[in-house]
Amino acid sequence: MKASAPAKIILFGEHAVVYKRHAVVTAINLRCYAEAKKSNDIKIVSPLGITGLDFEVHPYVSYAIKRFSEIKPINGVEIKIESEIPIASGLGSSAAVTVAVLKALDGEFEAGLSNDDIFELARKVELDVQGIGSGTDPFIATFGGAWLIPDRKPIKIGNIKLLVINTGESSITAEMVRKVAELRERHPEVVEKIFDAIDAIALKSIDALEKGDVKTLSELFFLNQCMLKAIGVSNRKIDKLVEKLTELGISAKITGAGGGGCIIGIGDDKSIERAMKEFNGFLVEAGAEGVRFED
Ligand code: PMV
Repeated sequence: MKASAPAKIILFGEHAVVYKRHAVVTAINLRCYAEAKKSNDIKIVSPLGITGLDFEVHPYVSYAIKRFSEIKPINGVEIKIESEIPIASGLGSSAAVTVAVLKALDGEFEAGLSNDDIFELARKVELDVQGIGSGTDPFIATFGGAWLIPDRKPIKIGNIKLLVINTGESSITAEMVRKVAELRERHPEVVEKIFDAIDAIALKSIDALEKGDVKTLSELFFLNQCMLKAIGVSNRKIDKLVEKLTELGISAKITGAGGGGCIIGIGDDKSIERAMKEFNGFLVEAGAEGVRFED
């Protein structure tokens, strides 16, 4: 049985969402595909390699198999992964692979899991591997669409072009979340206020997103990026890229944990076209479908 789940971008609110502030997140039209076939032992085949149950090379897939087996014991399975989502880039590839594997296992072993069950299992896997996390990625990979988090309120996104540029450097979520936690411990009275500012930005974006108000969104991207820089999750390469994009008329920010990974940008059509050429960017569509079986 084959299943797929979408990547996501965080439009506003990463990191602050770990501390119960709002974030705006949407599934996008890049997917991870997982195929599960009954077998006598466990084999995992992916672009990362061919292994058995291996918590080093394939942590998310291995924990997904382990968590699924707690609900429905299995003798063995062969899992094949193919993905359009760049790894460790802030686009939620880990959650997408987890959710796609759980759905494929559900289909192959006829476990009758609902999407809520899949989300719960994927959330456990996220904590198994990372030890910390807001649960946003597994939620979006499971349900798709665009959402205000943690309220789980669906939001509408008007006709805007969303540019994604991969810095080519890895973004390690657990590392970045830990870095922010340390800063918050040292300066709670400052960092909490930054989180409040990010919260206000996320809430303010809802109306602008619905209207496709590029001017307001550009200002909010700028403000959010300044806050992310303040909490230490940007770096010199990202700062330079954001600066260069600004010169082209694009307002850009980190999406996801930062320290590398992808940045997202918004601007008028001409600026976007130029930025795509110059920085190897690509456009993504918001509101993609959540986890599903594939033929
Ligand atoms: O980089 P990603 O796609 O893993 O997103 C991380 C988002 C954070 O807010 C930094 C952490 C979280 O769990 O919400």
